[in-house]
Amino acid sequence: MADLFRLDGKVAVVVGGGGGIGKALALGLARQGADVALASRNLQKLEGVAKELQADSEVATKVRAFQMDSTDEASVAAAVKEIVAAMGTVDILVNSQGQNIKRPFENFPLADWETLFDNNVRGVMLCCREFGKVMLEKKSGKIINLSSVAGDRGVPLAGNVGYCGSKAAVSNITRMLAYEWAKHGINVNAIGPSVIFTPMMKNALPPEILAGATALHPIGRVAEPEELIGTCVYLASAASDYMTGQIVYVDGGRSCYA
Ligand SMILES: NC(=O)c1ccc[n+]([C@@H]2O[C@H](COP(=O)([O-])OP(=O)(O)OC[C@H]3O[C@@H](n4cnc5c(N)ncnc54)[C@H](OP(=O)(O)O)[C@@H]3O)[C@@H](O)[C@H]2O)c1
Repeated sequence: MADLFRLDGKVAVVVGGGGGIGKALALGLARQGADVALASRNLQKLEGVAKELQADSEVATKVRAFQMDSTDEASVAAAVKEIVAAMGTVDILVNSQGQNIKRPFENFPLADWETLFDNNVRGVMLCCREFGKVMLEKKSGKIINLSSVAGDRGVPLAGNVGYCGSKAAVSNITRMLAYEWAKHGINVNAIGPSVIFTPMMKNALPPEILAGATALHPIGRVAEPEELIGTCVYLASAASDYMTGQIVYVDGGRSCYA
């Protein structure tokens, strides 16, 4: 039964693998036996994270870093080639790149809107399409997008029209791609977190905002990035073979009441 969740012999690409959530998910996948390719713009940072993960006592597989801008078509295509050459194939794609740009809507600069949608939506589209080509050839693969509770409903904090809109796009891209590629043996699902207390969030959230965010969660706290690992491993493994097109909300109960 435990084997159902093992990922031995699989190759996982974690886009945004140097980020707060991506790093935790990469560690979780590597501990389950997958070779892991971390991909994002800042290669130096990724190399540091790769070293750190490789040194983990439960990681016996390869963890490597690759430079890639997920909004740039040529960069994504080049990274696919480089990763396949170095790692052999791609079985699992985790799209954990993204950002939030909060602006009052009446003054939302179009340039910020475009940056937000480029990083959160265009990048997911390009990575699904390009890494997906490797999966289409093999007729198997697992794609896991990072959406959000904010992709399904509003959040009680102004300035988030762009972010919520972009995550709604990620959720519905996930559903429609699942529909389109089910016949090719590719499962496409998303994780929908609420507030994940990444190192960046720890620095950025003023105590009163954190208290307000905490109060929204019936479980009574926000989450640590590691609390997404179980869902990610499940969605990457044979345990979820009959599941596709779903957004799994790992949100401390945030979405169960409003
Ligand atoms: N933290 C939360 O509370 C929370 C809640 C719900 C959903 N999410 C979602 O979860 C995902 C990860 O969030 P996080 O908290 O881990 O954020 P994070 O710590 O800021 O990490 C995001 C990563 O994305 C990479 N990235 C951004 N733009 C990119 C691009 N154009 N090409 C390649 N990589 C790019 C960045 O790496 P480089 O700078 O090296 O490119 C960065 O390491 C995001 O989609 C976010 O919206 C987060």
